Amino acid sequence: MPLVLPIDPDSIARAAAALRAGELVAFPTETVYGLGGDATNGRAVALIFEAKGRPRFNPLIVHLPDRESAERHAVFSGRAARLADRFWPGALTLVLPKREGSALSPLVSAGLDTVALRVPAHDDARALLRAADRPVAAPSANPSGRLSPTRAEHVARGLDDKVSMILDGGPCAIGLESTVLDLSADRPVILRQGGVPQEAVEEALGEAVAVAGADDTAPRAPGMLSSHYAPNLPVRLNAVETRDGEALLGFGPNSKNATLNLSETGDLVEAAANLFGHLHELDRPPHTAIAVMPVPETGLGRAINDRLRRAAAG
Ligand code: TXA
Ligand code: MG
Repeated sequence: MPLVLPIDPDSIARAAAALRAGELVAFPTETVYGLGGDATNGRAVALIFEAKGRPRFNPLIVHLPDRESAERHAVFSGRAARLADRFWPGALTLVLPKREGSALSPLVSAGLDTVALRVPAHDDARALLRAADRPVAAPSANPSGRLSPTRAEHVARGLDDKVSMILDGGPCAIGLESTVLDLSADRPVILRQGGVPQEAVEEALGEAVAVAGADDTAPRAPGMLSSHYAPNLPVRLNAVETRDGEALLGFGPNSKNATLNLSETGDLVEAAANLFGHLHELDRPPHTAIAVMPVPETGLGRAINDRLRRAAAG
């Protein structure tokens, strides 16, 4: 069983020492829990892939405590600087050209000449990154293809002894992964919808952005498998009523029969924070399937629906 430690200066120092020694540590961010390893240590990065059971070496997000440390590893364009000013620390990951001489292991970016960087808006996460004093690669702390963890117990249940230490910071405030925006080509492309809505990115940039998958001319994110975020039970979308054995995941005030409700008031921020936790909870007997009521496709609803479509494709 992994060691689950409440966050305090001692446990942060202990976790930082473990990272420096090449071990894996699960830690909370404002989006989801991450499975962290030293991004300059190829063996630690390989351990991340092994612990998650990732079928392929998909590139990972590198976490830094501040903009200055991020600039050591990537070249910031004008667009990148504007977005980092506006959204860091926060739930926006920028894919940028890797800086020559960066100490990052090539395995982190699966051999690409770009790198995905993020400064998390979680005080304890940044304290850990500062104490570790090195860039930390961290995908969500769940087995590959399964639901992302928004609580320490989700990590413990999913990864079990594949992770030796989990810092428990309670539930994640946003509850959805970061938005991944590729700024390495001429045109900005959203590779993954997430915690920062597309509309907010477009407003900050003063231009429309392309969305991978939705737009044939945009590249797809490596590793964006269509079946992902999958509960064990089958998922049925846009449900209006339940069938035999189904749990109903509701949204909004008209969900009287819902087993659980993402947000009674129809608040997308609250729904995002509840999404993975509610799916974890419904994903067990006596239910035999999970039916989900419709969620509007605006703001954070885009990221919520993206995760739900992938869960249903599993
Ligand atoms: O919220 C989050 O982003 C969480 C927390 C722990 O920070 N992290 C997370 O990391 O979701 P990860 O490694 O699972 O997400 C990686 C995503 C994938 O979709 C991957 O394809 C894309 O970022 N990505 C990473 N590096 C890339 C690169 N160089 N080029 C294109 N896409 C990249
Ligand atoms: Mg993930």
